Amino acid sequence: MVTDTALRQVLDRVERVRPAEHRDLMSHFPTGVTIVTATGPDGSPRGLTCTSLSSVTLDPPTLLVCLNRRSGTLDALRNGRFGVNLLRLGAQQAAAVFSRPVADRFTGIDWRPSPVLEVPHLVTDAFAFAGCVVRDSLVVGDHEIVLGEVCEIRNEPDEPLLYGMRTFSALAPVAAAES
Ligand SMILES: Cc1cc2nc3c(=O)[nH]c(=O)nc-3n(C[C@H](O)[C@H](O)[C@H](O)COP(=O)(O)O)c2cc1C
Repeated sequence: MVTDTALRQVLDRVERVRPAEHRDLMSHFPTGVTIVTATGPDGSPRGLTCTSLSSVTLDPPTLLVCLNRRSGTLDALRNGRFGVNLLRLGAQQAAAVFSRPVADRFTGIDWRPSPVLEVPHLVTDAFAFAGCVVRDSLVVGDHEIVLGEVCEIRNEPDEPLLYGMRTFSALAPVAAAES
C-alpha cells in the first residue's frame, strides 16, 4: 500500500496529468450509453445521460454509476433508488437531450414508473432496464460513485448505442483471431 506521504512525494516529482488529458484518454475507451433516472423530491422524473456504468458484483447483483457532484439527478438518488436505462441504437436524440440543460427532459419521452421500485423506465429508448436500491456511495474528487443493488431487470436484447471518440456509433463486430 502506498502511503499518503510516499504518494505526495511521487506527485511532487512528476508533472500532474491535466483533467483534459484524462478526458482525452477516456474518450478512446468506448462504452454503451445509459440514462440514469430517479424521482425527485417533488415526484417529478429526473435523469441524465451516463456512460460510467460498471458491473461490480454478481452476488448480490450490484452495479455502479459515477456522477458529477453538481448533477441535479444525483440529488434525486438521495431517496435511495435509481434506474439504469441501457439505450438502443437510434436513441441518440434522447442521449443528447438528457445531457443538456433542457427544462423537462421527459417531454416526448415514452416512460413509465418501473413495476417494483417505481423509478422512470424509458420503455422505447431503452432495450434493457435495471432498477437499483442504493447500497453505498463514495465521493472521489468532483464525482460520487453510487453502488446500486439490482432489484429488477427488464431485458429485451437489441443493438446498443455506443459512445466513443466523442461520437455516438453502432457496434461493428470483427472476426475473432484464429488460435
Ligand atoms: C455520452 C455522455 C456520457 C456522459 N456520462 C456521464 C457520467 O457518467 N457521469 C456524469 O456525471 N455525467 C455524464 N455526462 C454528462 C451529463 O449527462 C450532463 O452533465 C447532464 O447535463 C447532467 O444533468 P443533471 O445535472 O440534470 O444531472 C455524460 C454526457 C454524455 C453526452
